[in-house]
Amino acid sequence: QIPVITIDGPTASGKGTVAHRVADKLGFHYLDSGALYRLTALSALRRDTDLADEHALAKLAEHLQCSFQGEHILLGHEDVSDAIRAEVVGNTASKIATFPAVRHALVGLQLGFRKAPGVVADGRDMGSVIFPHAPLKVFLTASVAARAERRYKQLIGKGISAKMEDLLMDLQARDDRDTNRAIAPLVPAEGAHVLETSNLTADEAVEQVLKWYAA
Ligand code: CDP
Repeated sequence: QIPVITIDGPTASGKGTVAHRVADKLGFHYLDSGALYRLTALSALRRDTDLADEHALAKLAEHLQCSFQGEHILLGHEDVSDAIRAEVVGNTASKIATFPAVRHALVGLQLGFRKAPGVVADGRDMGSVIFPHAPLKVFLTASVAARAERRYKQLIGKGISAKMEDLLMDLQARDDRDTNRAIAPLVPAEGAHVLETSNLTADEAVEQVLKWYAA
């Protein structure tokens, strides 16, 4: 059995950083499932696909020509690592992620990341839907204020201007959509360890996950 560690949680909860570091420490592969929704969103935006057309969006998801090369994410031959992080792409991703056909179309791609010696999977439904039998499931949380501050620092660090008020509103809108959708809503998977990270550094969170894994 190839081990899987699932790390789910809301937007800006630090899942990405924690999952990445845990994967590095263990020498495991890393699945950024949010990137797949973002790639689908980016393709749709570029092709001007009707964002209400579930069938067309699912087709795009099913035929995504993407590859992950270290830190770089390619769509076709183009490096879209930065393009998929745009706010509009994230918002579009969270909208199209409410369509069952889109989610279904991305299942095979996600399962394909399960390769020896193991994988750390980051997302919303990794422990509940994609890898329900994972030996370790973690659900990261943090207060809205802590998450907005993290996002703020991230953006400022990249030289992008940001307003705290806007970030708070955006976070709450994203939380509402992710939590209240009919399919794969954002809740801790059965058997998940919940880790409240508002007052933890990323390293402390990583340490806790590794401890659970070793136990
Ligand atoms: O950076 P952030 O946490 O906001 O987003 P992300 O993890 O890159 O995912 C972008 C959007 O895709 C989220 O808002 C979710 O709605 C959706 N998503 C999902 O539905 N299921 C996943 N496993 C991963 C992401």
